[in-house]
Amino acid sequence: MVNILIFGPPGSGKGTQSVKLAEKFNLTHLSTGDMLRAEIAAGTELGQKMSSIMSKGELVPDEVVIEMIANKIDTTKGSSGFLFDGFPRTVAQTVALDKMLNERKMKIDSMLVLEVEHDELVKRLVLRADLSGRPDDKDTAVIENRIDVYKEKTEPIINYCREKGIYQSVNGMGTIDDIFGRLADYMKKLM
Ligand code: AP5
Ligand code: MG
Repeated sequence: MVNILIFGPPGSGKGTQSVKLAEKFNLTHLSTGDMLRAEIAAGTELGQKMSSIMSKGELVPDEVVIEMIANKIDTTKGSSGFLFDGFPRTVAQTVALDKMLNERKMKIDSMLVLEVEHDELVKRLVLRADLSGRPDDKDTAVIENRIDVYKEKTEPIINYCREKGIYQSVNGMGTIDDIFGRLADYMKKLM
């Protein structure tokens, strides 16, 4: 089993690259953002509760996403490992993931952090707004808030992973294929 965190700010390409990596390396792609949007689309009570938090670009409570991830890990069969996209987002979520994997005789093998310039992040998300229909892409103030929340609450995870010796920075600028090539090179070393 190989378990990887695909990390980076909103718009850095986590989702785009995770889909491609999951296919190439036969890994299971777990995106808490996608899971939460599926709850909203299905009109569940949880989805209804989370939608206003998400449309402001704030984080949903840790316990909500921790439970979602634990369920997915336990119900996924025959996978060679997990690609975590948009999770963990706080140090508390990282500690919970560590514990969860440990209890199942697994660990986080690597954290690949996509580095993208601020203006490029905003440009990509503004461009996507019409296509995605995501309320958090529609307003540049919300996009900026998502980037601020990342810096404040999510970036501290980098130090936590650096201390564990699993942090790897990856240039996230350029074409989707170029970035995929860089990520795949790191992945090959882990497989
Ligand atoms: P989430 O769904 O995780 O969104 P995000 O982190 O804001 O990031 P995005 O999905 O917008 O960007 P991405 O890095 O995946 O980039 P993508 O590949 O799409 O979270 C949404 C919300 O859910 C959060 O704000 C929070 O409320 C809640 N949430 C989720 N997880 C949570 C958690 N663990 N804890 C608490 N709350 C949580 O690319 C973006 C665009 O750029 C696309 O259009 C793509 O086609 C384009 N693009 C990609 N690469 C390139 C490239 N190289 N060149 C040009 N364009 C590119
Ligand atoms: Mg995404």
